Amino acid sequence: MKRLRIGVVGCGNISSIYLKNCGSVFGNLEIRALADLVPERAKAKAAEFAAETGDARACTLRELLAAEDIDAVLNLTIPNAHAEVSLAALEAGKHVYGEKPLAVSLAEGERIAALAKSKGLRLGSAPDTFLGAGLQTCRKLIDEGWIGEVVGATAFMLCGGHEGWHPDPAFYYKRGGGPMLDMGPYYIHALVSLMGPVAGLVGQAKTAWAERTVTSKQRYGERIEVEVPTTVTGLLDFESGASAVLMTGFDAMGGTTHAPLEIYGSEGTLLAPDPNTFGGPVRIRRKGAAEFSDLPLLFRYAENSRGLGLSDLAAAIEEGRPARASGELALHALEIMEGIHASAAEGRRCVMRHGCARPSPLDA
Ligand SMILES: NC(=O)c1ccc[n+]([C@@H]2O[C@H](COP(=O)([O-])OP(=O)(O)OC[C@H]3O[C@@H](n4cnc5c(N)ncnc54)[C@H](O)[C@@H]3O)[C@@H](O)[C@H]2O)c1
Repeated sequence: MKRLRIGVVGCGNISSIYLKNCGSVFGNLEIRALADLVPERAKAKAAEFAAETGDARACTLRELLAAEDIDAVLNLTIPNAHAEVSLAALEAGKHVYGEKPLAVSLAEGERIAALAKSKGLRLGSAPDTFLGAGLQTCRKLIDEGWIGEVVGATAFMLCGGHEGWHPDPAFYYKRGGGPMLDMGPYYIHALVSLMGPVAGLVGQAKTAWAERTVTSKQRYGERIEVEVPTTVTGLLDFESGASAVLMTGFDAMGGTTHAPLEIYGSEGTLLAPDPNTFGGPVRIRRKGAAEFSDLPLLFRYAENSRGLGLSDLAAAIEEGRPARASGELALHALEIMEGIHASAAEGRRCVMRHGCARPSPLDA
């Protein structure tokens, strides 16, 4: 098996789990180098990696992009930097896999996808939670007809915002933030995997309060001017004829009792796990049954397996097939998220321009 040699750009919070998994779970990936705008962060991550799993050098972004021993860039920078870093990596001839969202605007996402295509390079993107044990079990149940013909779904990500716990929460309320861009990709990748691509949509978007007050310790009392809608809802039409409600919000101050993701079919209802996780529970109630039952997970990767999509992309390169957590899927998700905001602002229905193949399921 050939290993894909990886250079990581962005050594913040999420990089630790990627380093751990790439170093010990996915045998077809090899981390070679680490870069960050703040050089000390790359050095600290290299030390953390050396202590736990393997060897990787800390270097500058320029050195990483020029390195001949790096095949692919893992872009773990903040959303506003995704496009700049991914475009530079593609220009340097590297495959790219990045954290969500693909970019903060559809125009940027289209530039990235077009450059990857013109250079003959692979583009992939998180979320890859839809490849985890929970959502792959749901996929198998749907494909095998356990809930019959899928007619609809509801997906909810509602909370009271992040100013109560996050040490520096302002970015959630600025361009590139908001509940849909932050969390929508998990739900959209899951929905497209389970129900196929979206054909069109209408959206609603509201800003509940123009200002939020931080109540977490470090910046207690600071005011945040809200620049983005904080309750954002899409009504999605799928190419299959099914429809779904996707509601994301930072304004549910008392929380919610809605299940994160429910799929409705002619023969039953499936309760899918939180799409921001790799595991379960998976619950089903078939027509006529008195109550929902828990089902066992039929796939691997129930724990935090971030990097699974990158490992699949490496295998896809070897096998000459499409990757599952692909740039095409991420661009489709970005078009849906931007479409919901545009539909809300302009009072019109949006028809998707970028199609997307339903990613193939994993083997049980
Ligand atoms: N933190 C989480 O729990 C989490 C979970 C899932 C996904 N994500 C996604 O992962 C990405 C990173 O999140 P994070 O929480 O690790 O952020 P972070 O702020 O902790 O880390 C980002 C790092 O990127 C570096 N960086 C920014 N711009 C750069 C550039 N142009 N070149 C090189 N380095 C640059 C920063 O210096 C920082 O060290 C985001 O896209 C986020 O949506 C985060």
